[in-house]
Amino acid sequence: MNAIFLDAPVTDDKRRELLYRGQLLVYSPTPSSLRLVEFARRMVEEALQPYEPETAQYHLSVERYAAILAELKPKFIHHPTSKECIQGIFRELGVAPDKTYFDVPRMRTSTSDDFLTTGIAYAFHPHRDTWYSAPMCQINWWMPIYPIVPENAMAFHPRYWSRGVLNGSAEYNYAEWNRTSRHNAAQFVKQDTRKQPKPEEPMELDPQIRVIAPPGGILLFSAAHMHSSVPNTSGRTRFSIDFRTVNVDDVAARRGAPNVDSACTGTTMGDYLRGSDLAHVPEEFYALYETQPAIAKPEEIETATSA
Ligand SMILES: [Fe+2]
Repeated sequence: MNAIFLDAPVTDDKRRELLYRGQLLVYSPTPSSLRLVEFARRMVEEALQPYEPETAQYHLSVERYAAILAELKPKFIHHPTSKECIQGIFRELGVAPDKTYFDVPRMRTSTSDDFLTTGIAYAFHPHRDTWYSAPMCQINWWMPIYPIVPENAMAFHPRYWSRGVLNGSAEYNYAEWNRTSRHNAAQFVKQDTRKQPKPEEPMELDPQIRVIAPPGGILLFSAAHMHSSVPNTSGRTRFSIDFRTVNVDDVAARRGAPNVDSACTGTTMGDYLRGSDLAHVPEEFYALYETQPAIAKPEEIETATSA
């Protein structure tokens, strides 16, 4: 990876090709991304009233705060308005709704000063989503709900785009995770004992890239990118929205980013909903994704990521 594209006037096919090479793409807010952010703000403000959302953490016990988020987040995720906004973003950015499948948008919170970094507000260690059974063609969409600063953003660790690290992904299976760990996030207030795939060697996190887009500005990146939550020292809670997409032609052809080190099993393929009518990805493809592709050799990664 070597570039950040701002408002790139490219087709969706070209856009995915760039993302599969590790490039980052950033889009200015669109009418539907602003509507989604506005909708999220209303929900957050109602949930945390009478406090301002970005500083409410300083007025509440951590247990109370976690309980509020545990009620708020599923409401946002499953609300029909959230899905409509994603469909609108597709229209506005030239994403084919009959070819593109998305999973429900998540609301994330990164509290300041280590107030709550577990469970419902998990502070992500460096990881690739492809360690968590995402297919190599998954694209992540991320946007801030309130203005962000480098001290409460998310970070990319570009040296690992083409370099694998020892990691625990081989022990991760998505179906198993859903059975055992997914639905009890809110109970982890002081510590988080869920077993997640992590790097198993010292990481060099610098140089790192933190993209600071305005609320509703959209950051797109490959699920194979190494990224993490920045330890929040800003004094303000960061609220953000993210969702993921796959293009069904890429799913069928097994196109996507090169696999440098993901060895998990299971697949998130059953989670995505078609942009046009919320249908699931055809089940015939799931079996193809029960394991990640073979780890690419360095020369194959070079070819896939150059130009
Ligand atoms: Fe992630």
